[in-house]
Amino acid sequence: MAGKTTKRQTARKLADNTESRLAASFFGCGALENCNDNQTAVAREREKFRNDFLMAVRDEGNGLLTRHLFFDPKDYQISGQIVDGDRILWGSNAWDAHELSSPEVDFGDASLVKALVSDPVDNILLTSLPGGTYSVYEYGPGEQNSVRTKSIPFVRSLVNDPSKTHRVSGYTSFDIVPSYAVDSARLFNEELGLNTSAIVGNAYRREPIELSEHKGNDLVAIFGGMLMNAPEFLKEGRDSREVLCDYFATINLRHGVGSYIFMTLDIERDVGKLLKRYEQTPAFACFSLSGIARAVHEGVITDRNYDVLGNWEAVSSWNATACRIEIDCIATKDHTMTTVDGDIEIKKGHKISSILSAKNPIKDIEKVANVAGVDLVDIFPQKQQTKCGILLKVARPPAP
Ligand SMILES: C[S@@+](CC[C@H](N)C(=O)[O-])C[C@H]1O[C@@H](n2cnc3c(N)ncnc32)[C@H](O)[C@@H]1O
Repeated sequence: MAGKTTKRQTARKLADNTESRLAASFFGCGALENCNDNQTAVAREREKFRNDFLMAVRDEGNGLLTRHLFFDPKDYQISGQIVDGDRILWGSNAWDAHELSSPEVDFGDASLVKALVSDPVDNILLTSLPGGTYSVYEYGPGEQNSVRTKSIPFVRSLVNDPSKTHRVSGYTSFDIVPSYAVDSARLFNEELGLNTSAIVGNAYRREPIELSEHKGNDLVAIFGGMLMNAPEFLKEGRDSREVLCDYFATINLRHGVGSYIFMTLDIERDVGKLLKRYEQTPAFACFSLSGIARAVHEGVITDRNYDVLGNWEAVSSWNATACRIEIDCIATKDHTMTTVDGDIEIKKGHKISSILSAKNPIKDIEKVANVAGVDLVDIFPQKQQTKCGILLKVARPPAP
């Protein structure tokens, strides 16, 4: 299939056994072959984080922290690099705590999937996806509750296709957090008996990865707005539509013409309701501030006792021009941040953009997808609601 590479490069498949967790013993850009490569990847990821953090704190890059928030200290623990820290402020712990403390904040995805799979006639996977065998890839599966309530029911509806025209040859997770990638692959194997593999790495980076050898065309599934986050290119002054176009083109080149994409979209237009979903509860605030905690953890902020919660608060707002939710870390007092790159004077009110979550209307998404060679096939539900799922087809190579 076009766009697939067999060369072992930055990522490797992880077998669905408990040893694979060990193989995925770093945070970052691809599970590599051996210890030296592994250390190189950890070092590369740390350097990227350090540069992005310092730029973000100096106001030189908007939203650069977004991609670093799902930081999983377990991976450092495995590679023997754990240092003390405040667990709640570790990104993936904080996200898990947030999901567990507010199960109603599933951002509507779990309910949407439930509705989608409940009736085969409404299920656009069964009605609009051509019959055949598919190899499912999930981008950013996240923690287990999400996999159980969204990803598994979604794929199960294809596996159990009453007309038996659709088949699933396997499931591959692709997540920047090793434990998320490995755990979701394991869950799929346990629950659906599928052949599974996991890729640890940065799904947005356009570089070759080794795809699984499962049969059929690829079906990429994305829940929870993963594609609408992490617009790291904003530092080059591009807006989220351009970034999204780039992401679609990356998927196109990786999975090839003939593959499909299903993703959920937040199309809520009531700003009050939208902001309610991003309310800074204690657990969510810990997630939003976790980029600063990570800087302490990794020694970018050199004062080991730097008080993250004492010096910063998290605030959610709606940027109407850019059509996105922004979550900022705001300094609550004047203070000096000592960093590996010298002291930075922080004034009360100083802002670091932590999360950017784009909420572009479907017509904008359709337009940028088209430029990337991807066509909109179907929308569920057809009636405008606050949340929808869209099925897209990789129809041609992306425009140059
Ligand atoms: C917003 S969460 C969505 C999680 C889950 N699918 C849900 O619906 O709740 C984003 C997920 O994407 C992963 N992620 C974030 N940036 C990533 C990147 N650059 N490459 C791969 N995965 C990434 C995170 O680790 C997390 O699992």
